[in-house]
Amino acid sequence: METVSHNHKHKEGRKDKSKKEEVDMSKLHLCKLISKVPLTKNVENPVALFRFQMPEGVTFGPTPIGQSITIFAQNNGMTLKRHYTPIVYEKDCFEVMVKLYGDGEFSPLVHAFKEGDEVYIKPPKKTKITIGHDEFSHVGMIAGGVGVAPMIPVLTYLLEHNTENLKLDLLFANKTTDDVIYKEMLDELSAKHKNLNVHYILSRAGDDWSGHRGRVDREYVSRYMPAPKEKAMVLICGSKQMKKDWVALLESMGYERNKNFFKF
Ligand SMILES: Cc1cc2nc3c(=O)[nH]c(=O)nc-3n(C[C@H](O)[C@H](O)[C@H](O)COP(=O)(O)OP(=O)(O)OC[C@H]3O[C@@H](n4cnc5c(N)ncnc54)[C@H](O)[C@@H]3O)c2cc1C
Ligand SMILES: NC(=O)c1ccc[n+]([C@@H]2O[C@H](COP(=O)([O-])OP(=O)(O)OC[C@H]3O[C@@H](n4cnc5c(N)ncnc54)[C@H](OP(=O)(O)O)[C@@H]3O)[C@@H](O)[C@H]2O)c1
Repeated sequence: METVSHNHKHKEGRKDKSKKEEVDMSKLHLCKLISKVPLTKNVENPVALFRFQMPEGVTFGPTPIGQSITIFAQNNGMTLKRHYTPIVYEKDCFEVMVKLYGDGEFSPLVHAFKEGDEVYIKPPKKTKITIGHDEFSHVGMIAGGVGVAPMIPVLTYLLEHNTENLKLDLLFANKTTDDVIYKEMLDELSAKHKNLNVHYILSRAGDDWSGHRGRVDREYVSRYMPAPKEKAMVLICGSKQMKKDWVALLESMGYERNKNFFKF
């Protein structure tokens, strides 16, 4: 078995989660970057869409909704890895959106990838959640920033397979208008599908923003998310802290995990 030693390195001052583990290279696929397209206007923490070509004969299907792949990259002789959630799976290609954190260890490596570069990818595991198109009458989604990634394939799937009977609400939290990923596409989708409503909340918007402000709180949840009842589900995704806070909020409002809400 061909392996590489993988070390998760953390910068000074952060909790040391260092661990060495062997990576079984036979489980990885060498994928080629075929395009990189900007998705937001933010220059400090831009988000870009990376489209990768899989090797011939390899496919990730059937679509594992919301499950992440692992991207590997080398830095100073070390192999680093991080999870990313494909928003599009095609027969031989997939796309991930990656936000750049200038002081991060891994996202700068991804943003430095050039078209034609080849990187090792570990395919997604089995789907944790299935969302049948006649299973629910109302699906709510709470996403923070690039945490919208798993919501995109869910929305695409449900809008493609559903009748107008399923109500869909996305509560999408961002800092500023420049950070909102896919705003145009989401606005077009909600104009086309009357059962879809997208509610933007901005925490650091300028004076020109006339929409919702602040962070996701009890009031926004009760106004836009389905109440905890049968045939309703709330999906949440964001940073560890966002998910922790939203789980606590939902539980304090009577939602039960994996029954009324699901955390990606
Ligand atoms: C299941 C899963 C799916 C994911 N999908 C996506 C996706 O589709 N797209 C995407 O862009 N990302 C996704 N992520 C996040 C991704 O895996 C990386 O964590 C992200 O790219 C940041 O990595 P980094 O090494 O560049 O930054 P890091 O070094 O992890 O730092 C990121 C930011 O957090 C700050 N930070 C780091 N550690 C601490 C700490 N202990 N205390 C305070 N601040 C800290 C840093 O200063 C920096 O600003 C996903 C994560 C998971 C777990
Ligand atoms: N499957 C997964 O687990 C998965 C998939 C994709 C992405 N992700 C994660 O999603 C995260 C998205 O981060 P981002 O940098 O794009 O977001 P961000 O721009 O930092 O924040 C987006 C919005 O969320 C608010 N917010 C921040 N912390 C919050 C909290 N604890 N509770 C409620 N609201 C909060 C922010 O408000 P303020 O301006 O007040 O901070 C801002 O309005 C990343 O950490 C990524 O790892 C996870």
